[in-house]
Amino acid sequence: MEIYALKGHICYCKDKNDIQVAKDSFIVCENGLCSGIYKNLPEKFKDIKIFDYGDKLIIPGLVDLHLHAPQYAFRGLGMDLELIDWLNQNTFVEEQKYADLEYARKAYEIFVEDIVAGATTRACIFGTAHPQATLMLMEMLDEKGFNAYVGMVNMDRNCPESLCLANSETEEWIKKSSRLKNVKPILTPRFIPVCSDELMEMISDLQKKYDLPVQSHLSENLQEIEWVKKLCPDSEFYGAAYDKYGLFGGRCPTIMAHCVYSTDKEIELMKRQNVFVAHCPESNANLSSGIAPVRLFLEKGIKMGLGSDVAAGSSISIFYAMAMAMQCSKLRWRLVDQSLAPIKFSEAFYLATKGGGEFFGKVGSFEDGYEFDAVVIDDSKIKHPQKLDVKQRLERCAYLIGDKEISAKFIKGKQVF
Ligand code: GUN
Ligand code: FE
Repeated sequence: MEIYALKGHICYCKDKNDIQVAKDSFIVCENGLCSGIYKNLPEKFKDIKIFDYGDKLIIPGLVDLHLHAPQYAFRGLGMDLELIDWLNQNTFVEEQKYADLEYARKAYEIFVEDIVAGATTRACIFGTAHPQATLMLMEMLDEKGFNAYVGMVNMDRNCPESLCLANSETEEWIKKSSRLKNVKPILTPRFIPVCSDELMEMISDLQKKYDLPVQSHLSENLQEIEWVKKLCPDSEFYGAAYDKYGLFGGRCPTIMAHCVYSTDKEIELMKRQNVFVAHCPESNANLSSGIAPVRLFLEKGIKMGLGSDVAAGSSISIFYAMAMAMQCSKLRWRLVDQSLAPIKFSEAFYLATKGGGEFFGKVGSFEDGYEFDAVVIDDSKIKHPQKLDVKQRLERCAYLIGDKEISAKFIKGKQVF
């Protein structure tokens, strides 16, 4: 039995409206699970190993519900376009390079090093349409002890020919990648405009056979939505085009990125079938997509977390995604709809931890029985003249923290660094 405790200022969410703070306290990890927070350790724990982090903050690892690992190579570039042109002119061009395993190795080494060094402990990641390169990415993450779902991207129309070649290898990729310990496969139809009915049927069959989760994009951009209407005249709304194949929640755990323009009927089906929204505010700003109604999703009890959506989002920091989620919701409230209040800091922190973590099970909180994902933050480098309490220090992290301030990281009870 492995048991130890971290000591410091502990912050986490039980619900979206409040942040729990335990100053100068111990959090116990027992066999990879959270096992109590104590001001003074009880007698029964007197001999366990203590990692004393002094005045540092200890928070649950952050969760990135949506990003594209191959796009990390061109983050911060080519953002003067909207979605469809951006895909054709930047994304598909870059992703084709991953047929070359040497290029893939170089690019994925940089990505893996950076995501492991940051505050993210769990992620749902798109690879490319190349099974070998995607498997390589999964092995690299797995070896570091990073915990993720990774998908080989399926597409077979309205995109370069070379990205349509490997769909028949999806099952083989599932079999090979299912052997990994920390990283698991997730079915990844890219989005409806690039997936034919036959491809969706194949994915649907694989979903049933292997009981896998699915990730995709939904109602991100107005031109995209019009295109889907033309391509799928039988579907009452965009999400129905996934639901037709059993790939929209229910018995198939599902993450849909964006949902900027989801209709009432789409939202109702997402609620009924427990579809997770990956809210990606930076991406939605960069590609001029719009601002998702996060307050509405919270009020309706839609399952939701944050996504960096690199490279439509430039940063893999989920702290940055928290700040963007708050800022964009304020602009939406001011400029679009005053009936939907901006989201508060506690809500942004909740989405970044327990909200997104729920996709992985009992993840994203320090409540008893949750998987022990913890990040230790040294905010002393962000200097200031006044005295701040722990909650204020945490709030500043959303705006000011970078990877260099992460002092230690634990995933499922294992220390990563
Ligand atoms: N829709 C389909 N593919 C993509 C992608 O790579 N990024 C974003 N933001 N939206 C998409
Ligand atoms: Fe995306």
